[in-house]
Amino acid sequence: MKSQLEQIKQTAINMLQEIQDATELDAWRVKYLGKKGELTALLKQMGKLSADERPVMGQLANEVRETLTNSMEEWKKSIEESMLNARLTHETVDVTIPGKKTAIGHQHPMYIVLDEIKGIFVGMGFESLDGPEIELAEYNFDRLNAEEGHPSRDWSDTFYFDQDSRVMLRSQTSPMQIRAMETRTLPIRIISPGRVYRKDEVDATHSPMFHQVEGLVVDKGITMADLKGTLNTVVEKLYGEGTKTRFRPHHFPFTEPSCEMDVQCHKCSGVGCPTCKYEGWIELLGAGMVHPKVLEGCGIDTNVYSGWAFGIGLERTAMRRFKIADLRLIFENDIRFLEQF
Ligand code: PHE
Repeated sequence: MKSQLEQIKQTAINMLQEIQDATELDAWRVKYLGKKGELTALLKQMGKLSADERPVMGQLANEVRETLTNSMEEWKKSIEESMLNARLTHETVDVTIPGKKTAIGHQHPMYIVLDEIKGIFVGMGFESLDGPEIELAEYNFDRLNAEEGHPSRDWSDTFYFDQDSRVMLRSQTSPMQIRAMETRTLPIRIISPGRVYRKDEVDATHSPMFHQVEGLVVDKGITMADLKGTLNTVVEKLYGEGTKTRFRPHHFPFTEPSCEMDVQCHKCSGVGCPTCKYEGWIELLGAGMVHPKVLEGCGIDTNVYSGWAFGIGLERTAMRRFKIADLRLIFENDIRFLEQF
């Protein structure tokens, strides 16, 4: 029996060396140390031994069990360790490989300019209003003193929704003058940026959709001097201190007198060059004193109140500001273009 014990121990230990993974190890444990294992089977035969031999053999059997259990634990540890090492080498992360860059978006050049304009006016106490792009001809024309028959109402210029030419895509932000006077209490100081629509073919300087910013002031004792002073301040903030402006007479149905404001060409300082088409000046915006008919149509007493208004094209302002030669670049949203700002 003693030699049988020795043999079990030897084979078990030899077998253990061959084992590679946890499943094999478990099978080995069942085979040698389990309840139905070889060692237990042998111990069951102890009854056949004499009373003297039994304790000796019992002790020996316990020693074998202990040795095998210890060897198993050790082997288990070393298998686990080598498995862990294998995983660690396999799953190594090379922290020195350059990562993937996340592209960060930024503002569109036209909105950079719009935000500047808003900032300047808000700083002067103006409020910025949103308005509808689908507008009534009543607001876009009638109440702005452009009555039936006015050339700008023509079907060839304006997108109408109905046969009666009553509902349309607004052709200017000026209807916001009326909407502001209808909904606000006096005095009024507002700007209103937004999209406008006209039946123009797309080219380097035209688009059927573009953006304007409207401005309106109505208060007691407002004069043309307020208009000039405010707009000159805005232009200096936009284009730099000392920027020269000039006001030319013009005509708009809803202002009287009306004017256009030019800025001196930044390229040639007024001498004349291709940028200003050799005029020395670049047209910037339309403006004027709000026509008394328009004020009265909104229930404002023209004996007490007067006002001025302006409208500026945003695309053109951005184009001048960033020296963009083609209007289409502003709408195409080509990332190679947009990334430059
Ligand atoms: N609405 C005019 C245009 O689109 C601009 C303008 C606005 C003129 C306000 C005077 C006052 O050309």
